[in-house]
Amino acid sequence: MTSPRIAHPGLAAHRMDAAQAAEWIQPGMAVGMSGFTGAGYPKAVPQALAARMEAARERGEPFALRVLTGASTAPELDGALARAGGIDFRLPYQSDPELRARINRGEIEYMDIHLGHVAQYAWFGFLGKIDVAVIEVAGILPDGRLIPSTSVGNNKTWLDLADKVIVEVNHRQPIGLDGMHDIYYGTALPPERRPIPLLQPGDRIGEPYLRVDPEKIVAVVETDAPDRLGSFAPPDATSQAIAANLVEFFRHEIRAGRLSERLLPLQSGVGNIANAVLAGLQDGGFRDLTAFTEVIQDGMLDLIEAGVITMASATALSLSPEAVARFAANIDLFRERIVLRPQEMSNHAELVRRLGCIAMNGMVEADIYGNVNSTHVAGSTIINGIGGSGDFARNGFLSCFVTPSTAKGGAISAIVPMVSHVDHNEHDVDVIVTEQGLADLRGLSPKQRARAVIANCAHPDYRDLLQDYFDRALAGSSGRHTPHLLGEALSWHQRYLDTGSMRG
Ligand code: COA
Repeated sequence: MTSPRIAHPGLAAHRMDAAQAAEWIQPGMAVGMSGFTGAGYPKAVPQALAARMEAARERGEPFALRVLTGASTAPELDGALARAGGIDFRLPYQSDPELRARINRGEIEYMDIHLGHVAQYAWFGFLGKIDVAVIEVAGILPDGRLIPSTSVGNNKTWLDLADKVIVEVNHRQPIGLDGMHDIYYGTALPPERRPIPLLQPGDRIGEPYLRVDPEKIVAVVETDAPDRLGSFAPPDATSQAIAANLVEFFRHEIRAGRLSERLLPLQSGVGNIANAVLAGLQDGGFRDLTAFTEVIQDGMLDLIEAGVITMASATALSLSPEAVARFAANIDLFRERIVLRPQEMSNHAELVRRLGCIAMNGMVEADIYGNVNSTHVAGSTIINGIGGSGDFARNGFLSCFVTPSTAKGGAISAIVPMVSHVDHNEHDVDVIVTEQGLADLRGLSPKQRARAVIANCAHPDYRDLLQDYFDRALAGSSGRHTPHLLGEALSWHQRYLDTGSMRG
């Protein structure tokens, strides 16, 4: 018997519960799962799998997997599997507290990789064999094609490459998602690659559905559960000041003739600050903007609803519970204005560069020369991962990084002599913004950059210390091109580890 969401009779016959479906997954396998920034991840099979792993562990039998996704998922996937000791290798972006803790304790190998690179890495054969794909969808068509869910991520790749496929059909995902996606099937491996025919953020160059060989589908599991997404911190004085600095910069660029009133397609990163920056754009009086970005967070949804953004391309919706309700209520409007694509397209270097995206990403810290750390505390403890920030920073028209000038109540300066980990080097960073001001690094030498970053971005509590470091480095370092005192360059981080404060 078919149900409206499972319209393929052969696949309807493969319906089973999550525990039965999880039996297809064996220790040591590589499993490609759906899920991107907490959206569209499988809700039931990973938990059933975790229960099997716990049972195996009690019997003294190791049961761990290589787990590959689009990006971060939620407690039902990363949390459950990590807690069961069921992940021995994970990529790419993650943000689950349990998983993060185990990575930082050295129990799980984690590979942080540009989100735009994951699919081609898999296709190149660099990730080895993919045994099983576990993919959440909103429905199955009569011909077996899949209606994608709230994220596309790497689903196309996992469906194509995996030997076997488990599909979770989530009745909670709005069926109105049907038609919002654009799955491009024109990719190829070098040297057969062709230009990707996308000229505007809203162009549709593929088809709305995911293809899959029905013969590979071994289980169909029905679920009825929401994406588990947190809320964003409301914009505060600091994030509002950051946004105001960026808006003023855009106005300056318009006056200088380097940008038009419509700017260029916006990319906005994950996190509270990036979300707050979008609210600032709304207040800044902009209209008729577009976005070519990775995730649509609440701030972007507000701009779309308000008509500030008329078209947004992304790979996932990462909305708070309140925004999910708004999205569902207005889904017909959003389907006209949002296109969800595979992440190999949303984050594609060729497209980001052709469209000339304005990249705006959060960061952990920047150094006086403009190198940026997006991922690590004190050089060795990972927070989330690089996400798509590098895809956009390297290839965009403008690469902006935003952060409050201090963290942890002022104990940490976000501007340091030398970053403790490099995700974006000085060659990929155009603009650094804090609530203190903005450093425009375009066309500047390292020493000129250092003066701009210290004067404009550092918190007053740390500004003199940074200036003092730079002055002494200029006088005392072996080379005068990028002056550093190597024995001291990371001493701020060491001081934080030793005393709990960079101030000492
Ligand atoms: N040192 C130590 N901790 C720091 C820090 C620093 N210099 N800067 C920020 N943090 C901590 C904050 O204290 C906070 O910790 P808490 O959760 O314990 O309070 C946490 O990092 C998040 O900081 P917050 O100021 O709330 O910023 P955010 O939510 O905007 O997140 C990043 C900032 C860098 C963590 C986030 O943007 C990120 O993961 N970026 C990398 C991925 C990316 O850019 N993706 C975009 C592509 S679409």
